[in-house]
Amino acid sequence: MSVAGVEVVRKPAGPPVVPTGTVDEKGRPVTIACATCHATKPANPDARVGRPLVMFHQGLGGQHGNLSCASCHNPADGYASLRLADGKGVPYTDVMTLCAQCHGPQYRDYQHGAHGGMTGHWDLTKGGRARNNCVDCHAPHAPKYPTVFPAFGPNDRFQTGGGHE
Ligand code: HEC
Ligand code: HEC
Ligand code: HEC
Ligand code: HEC
Repeated sequence: MSVAGVEVVRKPAGPPVVPTGTVDEKGRPVTIACATCHATKPANPDARVGRPLVMFHQGLGGQHGNLSCASCHNPADGYASLRLADGKGVPYTDVMTLCAQCHGPQYRDYQHGAHGGMTGHWDLTKGGRARNNCVDCHAPHAPKYPTVFPAFGPNDRFQTGGGHE
């Protein structure tokens, strides 16, 4: 799929959703968008990664500095987007802008090819190349343990959004 002269950075397909565990009449999983609940529910600015929630998202564990959920999730639109420190919203597909805000050195290393790996051609005159997204390797809620995979499986959810745009 690589085209000479082109570097593509894989991106998440879009905002995450919550699975309901049920399927519709065509067998497709039924999911709920974040804003369905959070557009009306007042945001709790004290919720932090590593401090378990009790009313919902009970399984959501992790460890990421001492970050509050609102360091990344945008309460202004019912968590339909991410947010930067200045309050500006960022679509989930541009999650790397958010990571880069706090991890400048790693982001610069990434841009120089020293962090994050790639597949395809180093020399772009010979062919294109694809770069992994930060979140292909680091789960945002538990980034310490890289979920590094040498090749991407056919069902990888990031495959549709990245690499072919
Ligand atoms: C079915 C309703 C529902 C959906 C859908 C839902 N949430 Fe929540 N969420 C809740 C409830 C209820 C809490 C409060 C949990 C607690 O305090 O124990 C919560 C808490 C949170 C918090 C902690 C801060 C706060 O404001 O309470 C964040 C961040 C959050 N949700 C993000 C999301 C994201 C991102 C999505 C979409 C992937 C999502 N939620 C989908 C119901 C929902
Ligand atoms: C470092 C940034 C960051 C922090 C801090 C963070 N999140 Fe997230 N969260 C993300 C990103 C990015 C995604 C999208 C992941 C994806 O697409 O797979 C996400 C996805 C989610 C989802 C969708 C389901 C899932 O697990 O992927 C929920 C629910 C959620 N976050 C809730 C929370 C809650 C609640 C907190 C605080 C306890 C929190 N997040 C803290 C960045 C963050
Ligand atoms: C608001 C600032 C902030 C944002 C946004 C943020 N991080 Fe972090 N991150 C931190 C802090 C603070 C630590 C803990 C640093 C330490 O202990 O040295 C950390 C630690 C990490 C670590 C090292 C984990 C460990 O324990 O060794 C990785 C990897 C990481 N972050 C990746 C990411 C990725 C990927 C994103 C984007 C989804 C992201 N971060 C977004 C602040 C942030
Ligand atoms: C191909 C997988 C991969 C990608 C893509 C990737 N990383 Fe990493 N990252 C790693 C590995 C492996 C480590 C080392 C983890 C360890 O030794 O525990 C690491 C370590 C880190 C650390 C901890 C400090 C350090 O330098 O060891 C941070 C912060 C970090 N990455 C941020 C990022 C950010 C931000 C992005 C996107 C610009 C990114 N990473 C993209 C694999 C990746």
